[in-house]
Parts: sequence; structure tokens; C-alpha cells
Amino acid sequence: MNKDKLMDELQKETPFVDALEKYTYSNCVPFDVPGHKLGSVETELSNKEFGVIYKYDCNAPRGLDNLNHPHGVIEKAEDLAAKAFGSEKAYFLVNGCSEAIHVMLMSCLCEDDHILIPRNAHKSVINALILSGATPIFMDPDLDKEYGIAKSLSFESVKRYIDDNPFAKAILLIYPTYFGEVCDLKSITEYAHSKGLIVLVDEAHGSHFKFCSDLPISAIECGADLVASSLHKTGLSLTQSSILLKQGNRVDESEIRTSINILQSTSPSSLFIASIDAARKALYFDCDRLMHQVLEYGKEFREKCKSLKHIQVLNKEHFINNGSFNYDESKLILSFKDLNLSGVKVYQILKDKYNIQAELGEQLVILFILSSGTKKEHLDKLFDAIKDIDNTYEKSKTNLPEYKYHYPKQIVKPRIAFEAIKEDVLLEDSYGLVAAEQIMIYPPGIPLIIPGEQIDEVIIKTINDYISNECLLLKDSPEKYIRVVKKEK
Ligand SMILES: Cc1ncc(COP(=O)(O)O)c(C=O)c1O
Repeated sequence: MNKDKLMDELQKETPFVDALEKYTYSNCVPFDVPGHKLGSVETELSNKEFGVIYKYDCNAPRGLDNLNHPHGVIEKAEDLAAKAFGSEKAYFLVNGCSEAIHVMLMSCLCEDDHILIPRNAHKSVINALILSGATPIFMDPDLDKEYGIAKSLSFESVKRYIDDNPFAKAILLIYPTYFGEVCDLKSITEYAHSKGLIVLVDEAHGSHFKFCSDLPISAIECGADLVASSLHKTGLSLTQSSILLKQGNRVDESEIRTSINILQSTSPSSLFIASIDAARKALYFDCDRLMHQVLEYGKEFREKCKSLKHIQVLNKEHFINNGSFNYDESKLILSFKDLNLSGVKVYQILKDKYNIQAELGEQLVILFILSSGTKKEHLDKLFDAIKDIDNTYEKSKTNLPEYKYHYPKQIVKPRIAFEAIKEDVLLEDSYGLVAAEQIMIYPPGIPLIIPGEQIDEVIIKTINDYISNECLLLKDSPEKYIRVVKKEK
């Protein structure tokens, strides 16, 4: 059998799914946890359609391996995933891509280390800085001012950061950005490696890349050392499951295992693990065909949007003409700014009036994510709603406020602010103080301010603007307050 055929044969297997199925129907008498005993107690939920999943929800019975020490069916399933993704190792995780990111930083950085990080990184990256104790050197992404989108970093800009910070031990890249832009990761990785840096990639929104020939190549194919992939986002597994991929020997496998075992529950969900095993098989066999079809639907949708009077669609050309290296066309971005409607407002209107759930609304744009599960009728319904909005709202002469790209000054590293004595002060009284918490709207979960940064006027105003727009603010302090490092008297 040739290599490809052999791989196809291998990828048909789903070792964990099969073992779980066998266990579920083996009439095993359960004297272990969980207490619902494979669904033998009625709850409000078990009576519903959803109830069947209790049968598959077990802890780590004999024969089903252990996620924190895989030596059986989980090890086999992880091995198949590594082969499918083209990495040398794959680790299944059950606390989201956030866990994969925490593990990445914890396994290769300590207190005295420095890491280059784009400032528009997800909150999990900032938390990983607190956990590892490492010092960030923030790289400022360029801004698409017209639409208020933080862009991916150019090779030249990353090269400059690397050259200016020869003591950095690692670099983290976002690939793709939430809005689908990808940087020239292959060239960046080659350059970073030539300077001795470890390359970590947040590929939360790109788990489908490896399996779709119409899209950018994956971070592993670009040569990255560790890749955190949010398999549940565009990769077909259940929400909260994710995968960490590793290749090469720049990061020690034993450090990864130790970090996983610090962070991960000792009772990982069998449903999540099974869903990763099943997703890997579906990605391997079906993703290319399905995504090809979905991208065609996307093209038709974009074409139809040309008939709209006031609404813009941001196409690949827009990104390439604005300096992007490449673009993932399964991200669909619309702007309603000519109607003076913010993305946040349209996000609300779409759900409340048309029962359409977008991924996120920003000040000037709204983002829709297309994936293998997107159907033509979904896009037809979306187009009808968009057209209705286009006809209903009047073109406005007043413009939305200009998008402010602003990150506050870093005074101390996140770990120092986290460990400091803290107090909650009213936001309006916080000018000049050092933040001891992250504040963000969710989604996207990109912090407006992080621990260790100085609170300034722009940040206070931005937070107040989001509050008045009824956005969901994630923070630790009570409403109207911000947690800060307590000033010595
Ligand atoms: C860019 C990015 N990285 C990491 C994460 C964390 O992923 P998860 O929600 O799976 O923990 C997210 C989640 O939205 C994200 O957008």
C-alpha cells in the first residue's frame, strides 16, 4: 500500500470513540463517579433530547485511558491527530485553546524570560504571562483605520522587533487574527529560528487550515514549534475541547506534560475527548470538500452584496491591498458605517429581529464565521436580513466616532501587578493608577487594558463607550469599578 493509502486507512480509525461506545453499551456496573451513573438518575436535562449524552459521560474507567497520562486509546487517538495535523505530537485538552496557550508559555518560559507578543493577543496569552512570570515585549499591530481592525504583523515589522530584542527567548504569533488575516508565518518562523527564538502560535481560529486546500497553510506547515488550536471553533469538536501540536525539539516534551498536568482537571470530560477524536477524522476526510463548497457560497454572497446601497463587504483584495500577506475567506466581514450603524448595534439587531447569531460586532464592522457546518440557506437568510437593513435604515451624514487604536503604557509586567496588593476604585477616579485586572469585551476577548498597564483618559472613555453600547464587559471588579495596584501612602 502506498503512503497516502496507508494514511487514509489509519485515519478511518477512532480509537477513543470506539472504546467509549463499547464501554457505554457493556452494561458495566458503575461504582465510580460521575454520580449520575451513566444517566440512571432523572434530571431536568436527562429527560430532554440531550439526555442521551449522559450515557457517554464517564470519568476514566478501565479501558478508556487517562488524559493526563495517556498510554492506551487516548495515546492512539492523539497519535492519529498528530499525523493528520502533520505534527510530531498532539495533546488533547479539555479547557479550551486557553489551556493550550497557558501550556505553551508555561512549558518554555520562566520568571526571567522575555517573549515577543502582539498586543492584540487574546486574554489567555496575558494570563499565561501571569502563570509563567515571563516579561512581555509587546509588538504593536498596524491598524486598518478605515474599518477599525487590528491587522496581523508584517515580516519587516516582526524582524525589527526580533532584532531590537536579542535577549527574547520566544515569540508568539496570532495566525490567523480573529478577522482572518494571516502573516507570513513561514518567513517569520525561519527568521526567528535563525535567531534562536522558540515560535509559539495561537491558531485558535485556524484549525481547519491544514485540511482545506483553498485556505492559507497551517502553522505547523510554516514550521512553528508549538501550536494552540481551538478545535471547537472551526474544527468540529465540542466547545471547550482543543488541541496542542508540537514539532521539533526546541521545547521539552516533559515540560509540556508537567504544565498540562498542573492546569488540567483530573476528571476530563469523555465527551470532549471523544469529540476531538471524531473531529480529527471528519476534518481529515470531509473538510476539504465541505469548505470548498462553503467558500463558493461565500463568493456568491459577496457577489450579491454588490447590489446593496450602503453596506460594504471586506474581501480578500481589501486585505491584500492593505498589506496583508494572506486572508482566510471563511471569515465574512461587513461594515454598516455608511448607515451610521456600529457592528455592535447590527449584532444586536440581527439576533433580536432576524434570529441570526453573528460571531462578533466591533465598532465599525461585524464578523460572521463560515465553517464546514455552514449551509447555503444560512447565507441566504443572512443576505435577506442584510438587504432589509440596507433598505430600512437611512444613509446618515453623521459619522460613527473614529476608531481609537490605543494600548496604555506598561509600567510593570503582568505577574507583578497580579501579585501586588490591590483595591477596587471607581473607574472615573482611576486616572494614572496601574491596572491589576484585564478588561475586555467578549467576544473577541482582546484586553483593552491588562495588569501592569497605566490607566489613562482614552481607556476610561473607551470602557465607558462600551458600557453605554451595552457590550458585555469581562472584568473581575464590580460594575463601575476597576481593580488597581494599591498605591503606597
Ligand atoms: C485568538 C484567540 N486565542 C485564544 C482563544 C481562547 O480559546 P478558548 O475559548 O477555546 O479557550 C480565543 C477565544 O476566543 C481566541 O479568539
